[in-house]
Amino acid sequence: MSYHQPFRVAFAGVMTLFTCLLPAAAQTPASITFTKDISRIFQKSCQDCHRPGGIGPMSLLTYQEVRPWARSIRNQVVRRNMPPWYIDRTVGIHQFKNDPSLSQADIKLIADWADGGAPAGDPADMPPPRQFDDGTRWHIGEPDIVIKLRKEVIVKAKAPDQWVDLAMEDLGLKTDRYIRAVEVKPSKGAAVVHHAVSYVHTPDGAGGEERGLLEEYAVGKFGDIFPEGTGRLLKVGTRVVMNAHLHSNGTDTPADIYVGIRLYPENYVPKRLLIMAHVGDNEDIDIPPNTKNVRSEGYTMLLKPARITAFQPHLHNRGQAQCLELIYPPAQSGGRAAAQTVSCVDKFRFNWHIVYHYQEDVQPIVPAGTVIHVTSWYDNTPGNRFNPDPSNPVSFGQRSIDEMSFAWLSYYYLSDAEYREMLSERQNKTNVVAGNR
Ligand code: HEC
Repeated sequence: MSYHQPFRVAFAGVMTLFTCLLPAAAQTPASITFTKDISRIFQKSCQDCHRPGGIGPMSLLTYQEVRPWARSIRNQVVRRNMPPWYIDRTVGIHQFKNDPSLSQADIKLIADWADGGAPAGDPADMPPPRQFDDGTRWHIGEPDIVIKLRKEVIVKAKAPDQWVDLAMEDLGLKTDRYIRAVEVKPSKGAAVVHHAVSYVHTPDGAGGEERGLLEEYAVGKFGDIFPEGTGRLLKVGTRVVMNAHLHSNGTDTPADIYVGIRLYPENYVPKRLLIMAHVGDNEDIDIPPNTKNVRSEGYTMLLKPARITAFQPHLHNRGQAQCLELIYPPAQSGGRAAAQTVSCVDKFRFNWHIVYHYQEDVQPIVPAGTVIHVTSWYDNTPGNRFNPDPSNPVSFGQRSIDEMSFAWLSYYYLSDAEYREMLSERQNKTNVVAGNR
């Protein structure tokens, strides 16, 4: 009797597969409707931005709003321009915590629906509207410190996009403290704040300051709560500066941006310190006019073993693409250095500053002596729509019209014992794409 059992189980599995597959496969373009199939995709993946008061250029809540855009939506999703996520899907690590991309099946559904005349469908099939509370709620829990801009900005009804550094209120710290969670959000004028990235300026002891990344605001992102025992140091005297991309929306709009921080208790020192630092900096940039695929490279060595948690390319208006490669020292790779490309952003967009957060089980765990190799490419032709003047040569500088070449890397150092422990834990798991040395 037990002899038949496995067969039955397998057979039942096949049946389930068929019953799931058949109706979907039979779905013809004409039977795909907005209310039944498409609205749920837009609720999940588009409406954070495409709704009244959102940063998207049009609202995608109702059929009436969506219908005129059906063709354009088809083109944007098929090319994977929307939702914004510009990682090269054919290279390196594929699993991210914050990947908003549509599945291939959903893309096909949208394309077939548009090709079939973008029908509305039965109103009874429409899912209940989504509720949005991101303007009022702190997703990290009640912060210990909340600071806002020193001065609200007014974004004029009609103005070019601006990328500006804005001073924030004082943190009011009496002692050095560790951050356990942080969130950035526009409290006013969310529709004109395309993105906002906060930086800390930390006193370096020599009378100067070191600049580091604190936290970014991007639509649909609700702060960061660090894993238990992991924190970021906030030194007394640290200033916070907000770099915001402001985008006019047809009416004079006041905007304000908040940073909320939850702290570990006083005198508590977390076991692991999360670091967000520049890597692969290169200031020797020389981009000729009317040229693309111009390359620049930089290297940074990690002196201790580390676990890499996130990557963000940093380029300016002429940015085209960037790749992050890890070069492992000979001792760890059988006598010769070995290299591994972990991530590429193949279509860099200057107006989208996206931090790519690796999922826990694929975060690269790297030995001491690993070299981070950052390669950037630039497009200084009229084909790059962010290019203010392709007839100009471009070199390194602070302004958006000058260039930069580095990546922000988030990582924490490991002790040798932790490194070995994490590595063997990783090696025991299957399906590991990268960083498994
Ligand atoms: C994170 C915010 C965000 C999300 C999520 C998002 N969009 Fe967009 N979308 C924008 C912004 C902003 C623009 C304007 C162009 C730009 O900045 O790239 C845009 C542009 C577009 C355009 C081009 C409009 C034009 O003027 O031609 C279409 C179509 C579009 N989005 C559809 C979608 C669809 C469909 C989804 C979901 C599958 C989606 N977007 C998700 C923010 C977003």
